[in-house]
Amino acid sequence: MAAQINPSILSADFARLADEAQAVAGADWLHVDVMDNHFVPNLTLGVPVVESLARATDIPLDCHLMIEAPDRWAPQYVEAGAGSVTFHVEAAAAPVRLAREIRAKGAKASMALRPATPIEPYEDLLPELDMLLIMTVEPGFGGQAFLDIMLPKIRRTRELISKHGLDLWLQVDGGVSASTIEQCADAGADVFVAGSAVYGAEDPAEAVRALRNRAEAATGKASWACDH
Ligand code: DX5
Ligand code: ZN
Repeated sequence: MAAQINPSILSADFARLADEAQAVAGADWLHVDVMDNHFVPNLTLGVPVVESLARATDIPLDCHLMIEAPDRWAPQYVEAGAGSVTFHVEAAAAPVRLAREIRAKGAKASMALRPATPIEPYEDLLPELDMLLIMTVEPGFGGQAFLDIMLPKIRRTRELISKHGLDLWLQVDGGVSASTIEQCADAGADVFVAGSAVYGAEDPAEAVRALRNRAEAATGKASWACDH
């Protein structure tokens, strides 16, 4: 089963974003962390940078919005060229309406959960989404340690996806590396964001391939993937 690897440019050199995108040729998506200094205590980039980056690379952009009022701002990221837009459910006023709007504008709609946010209240919303993001660190910074206490939530989410027969990607973000990616794949994740593990490597494109190989090997042995 195919595993997708999405390098996070949060760990890249922001003064050389086009080159940094090229450095991960072969990646499935480029993960773009948008932070507003309110939803998280960090500030990164916004719509104009996404617009330029979309023109500078053929890799589709996976925009992770760690911002307040995503209902107001998320549609602009689709217009800027993002192929997938993730909003945080903790910040969204009307997640169903927002997911429908993102899809109607032509991008994949994705919803993120902070570590303390449970999946269960959102079971009925899952058909509205193309991807669900389970944060495996508190959002805000790259290079943090993987929270293995999130593994049960990943498993429970994979069970819900199977139970409803949904075509929904399950993304993990935070502390994903060669030493943690197999646990995530085994628990049910199939889209893996990696910042420091890719851009901290001597050869980022090779790091993407190595992560994908590990994830796919672990998925091949995982019980959740056996029935498919
Ligand atoms: C953190 C961001 C992540 C971050 C991951 O809030 O959402 O995408 O870049 O970085 P690593 O892989 O270094 O934990
Ligand atoms: Zn992210």
